[in-house]
Amino acid sequence: MGINFKQETFRDDFSFRNSPEQVRRFPFPFHEDGYMYSVNIEPHVPGAKNTVFEHLFDVDEHYVSEMHDRALVLAEDPLRCQSLPHMTLAGWDTLELLMTEKAKSYPEHFSLTRDGDKWHWVNRPLGIDDRFTFGDTSTLPYDPLEYITRQSQGDFAVLDQRDGNLWMDAGIVTTQADWSLDFDIGMNFFEWHAPVPLAHEMGVFKRALKFLMALQQGQPARRHNWTMTINPRLDTSPENYHKWGTDRTTVTPENVGDKVHLRVEIQMFFRLPRSNALLFPIRCYLIKMDELVTSPKWARRFHRVLRDLPPELAEYKGLVRYRPTVVEWLSKYDDGAPTSPGF
Ligand code: HEM
Repeated sequence: MGINFKQETFRDDFSFRNSPEQVRRFPFPFHEDGYMYSVNIEPHVPGAKNTVFEHLFDVDEHYVSEMHDRALVLAEDPLRCQSLPHMTLAGWDTLELLMTEKAKSYPEHFSLTRDGDKWHWVNRPLGIDDRFTFGDTSTLPYDPLEYITRQSQGDFAVLDQRDGNLWMDAGIVTTQADWSLDFDIGMNFFEWHAPVPLAHEMGVFKRALKFLMALQQGQPARRHNWTMTINPRLDTSPENYHKWGTDRTTVTPENVGDKVHLRVEIQMFFRLPRSNALLFPIRCYLIKMDELVTSPKWARRFHRVLRDLPPELAEYKGLVRYRPTVVEWLSKYDDGAPTSPGF
């Protein structure tokens, strides 16, 4: 059965909602009643049916609308997609990976036919039917990275590996939690992570970089990150801070359920075959508090995580102003019962 793609917005009237099925498959990220940074990396292997891990690249009911929102961001600000000249081959690698996986996972929606370097790509939800020559950028309407990531949910950073480090030398970033590709382009792993509190001292980044540098092709890995967003806005960028920063002052006990969203990122790591670059897709999932509390165990646990979050993390994630209101609201759903670890 095909996916029922919704028409909805992530700005202005914010008509984004999750269907009950989508709520059930939400990747609730907490496996205990507290949260601290760690090197939480695991193999990215396909998971159970009807979960976001069923396929390597999840496509869901928000696909068409998310792609529309990306097109709006790019029309206003083309610098959200950049690729330094030496990264074109990594763009082709990315295109191949995304096309082959989408066609394999969702044959009713995507198909790819190859005859040597003559490729035929059909994306039915977006009404795209293109023939091009693999490796020849002049046969596509955009460079290969932009072409395929305009058709793929989530942000993508493409890292060049050299001199014992990873360098953010290409990417497309329109659904981010307050960071900027234009600012970070050309930076290395420690430089772009510089603003993160506590994790450097804990040795998280040194260990993570070591792991990533050794990552092999065909053995992708993943981790998650989370923050919160007021209104279901995908583009919470520094570039557009003037549009969304003040939303944080609008949370009241009456509107928490509708306005406050948990924002979960499934971040993946793929070694690319020709370029040896590392592809880092960051897939964002949003859920409003009214939807989250339909699961009593999620409500109970998220109340405890948010209540006990270390102040440095609350400050960095930008939650300080509205956290007490949300904790108070969530406390109604926490009966104090012990929770099971690991769910
Ligand atoms: C935050 C990129 C891998 C841990 C960030 C930020 C960026 C980023 C741009 C925001 C920094 C800012 O405030 O400007 C990347 C890229 C990666 C990568 C491109 C792929 C190579 C990792 C790994 C870990 C990690 C492997 C740990 C195991 C973190 C943490 C934060 C962060 C803990 C703070 C997030 C928060 O509290 O919301 N990362 N990262 N990152 N990153 Fe990474």
